[in-house]
Amino acid sequence: MGLIYKETDPVRLSDDGRAVIALDQTKLPNEISYLSISGAQEMYDAIKSLAVRGAPCIGVFAGYSIAVLAKRYADEGMPADDVLLRLKEDASYLDSSRPTAVNLSWALKRQMSLAEKCCKNGFSAKDMASSLCEEAVSIHEEDINMCRKIAEYGLSLLHDGDGILTHCNAGALATSRYGTGLGPLLLGKEKGYEFHVYSDETRPLLQGARLTAYELMRAGVDETVICDNMASLLMKRGKIQAVLVGCDRIAANGDTANKIGTSGVAILAQYYGIPFYVLGPYSTIDMSTPTGDDIRIEEREPEEIGTMWYEHRMIPEGAKCYNPAFDVTDHSLIAAIITDRGILSAPYTESIATAVKEKP
Ligand code: MRU
Repeated sequence: MGLIYKETDPVRLSDDGRAVIALDQTKLPNEISYLSISGAQEMYDAIKSLAVRGAPCIGVFAGYSIAVLAKRYADEGMPADDVLLRLKEDASYLDSSRPTAVNLSWALKRQMSLAEKCCKNGFSAKDMASSLCEEAVSIHEEDINMCRKIAEYGLSLLHDGDGILTHCNAGALATSRYGTGLGPLLLGKEKGYEFHVYSDETRPLLQGARLTAYELMRAGVDETVICDNMASLLMKRGKIQAVLVGCDRIAANGDTANKIGTSGVAILAQYYGIPFYVLGPYSTIDMSTPTGDDIRIEEREPEEIGTMWYEHRMIPEGAKCYNPAFDVTDHSLIAAIITDRGILSAPYTESIATAVKEKP
């Protein structure tokens, strides 16, 4: 079995630049299959269905998607001004696929401001498409480098032999290479650390059971899957020395959106005096969102709770289900936010503003 974080890019550009190739994460851990995606509707569906998932990975996918669409319009002979108009429609359509992870709109805005610049400077449609392709590759390469830095900073806070709790999946599948929340564990393994990792299975879509367990096992990290409601017992028994999670949007005051269930884990960690660390790239910080109350929480289909994983339905016909996909962890519960720009600590309003100011 190979190391996913060394060998697998969950998304990449096809050799001819006409499609985004994406590992279909809905099929893991049982099947490794790739989608070849070239139209806006398929791109939207890939994000919405969670075939492509994890905040940074969605951002990288969005960057490549705009490059692919631009090339397609240029190849059809559209003039640059028309390509720009079409891309604006596509970007706003893709942006509506998932509302909580800021990396999606961050990458789309970055691509669209480049497209506008190309048009203003009189680029042909073909040259505009090449620039967007280069920018998509830069977004991807930056994410690889950011993940590596986050892994190094995160590892500096851990000790050999620590028991670590994770929630959802913030590894190579959700990002590029080392991941964010799992980065310190993968890097630590390379450096000879032995961690004991407990992965919350992460109801209802089981990213912890299906994806984190898959990644960590392949990397040879000692790993145990638990149901979400077992974390408290493990903490009480002294099995957990730190909690590591990724993030989908960090508000200016440090409140952080992540997979549903994360805030409950943070509350438990505070009760038991266990440090709760959030790991993510600077592109996940959203200075235009003042607090967690301003973060829009995605609500998903009720079928994900009662029927989709079972041979027979597990809730009575007609019973109501509520399925918010994320929650917000209050900044007061977070021991540190570990970014590629360093380890940020409270007061977060100041440390985040300083980190963001370093580079635009
Ligand atoms: O719904 P998902 O699977 O996209 O949710 C993913 C998470 O909540 C991750 O923890 C987050 O995106 C960070 S990924 C590095």
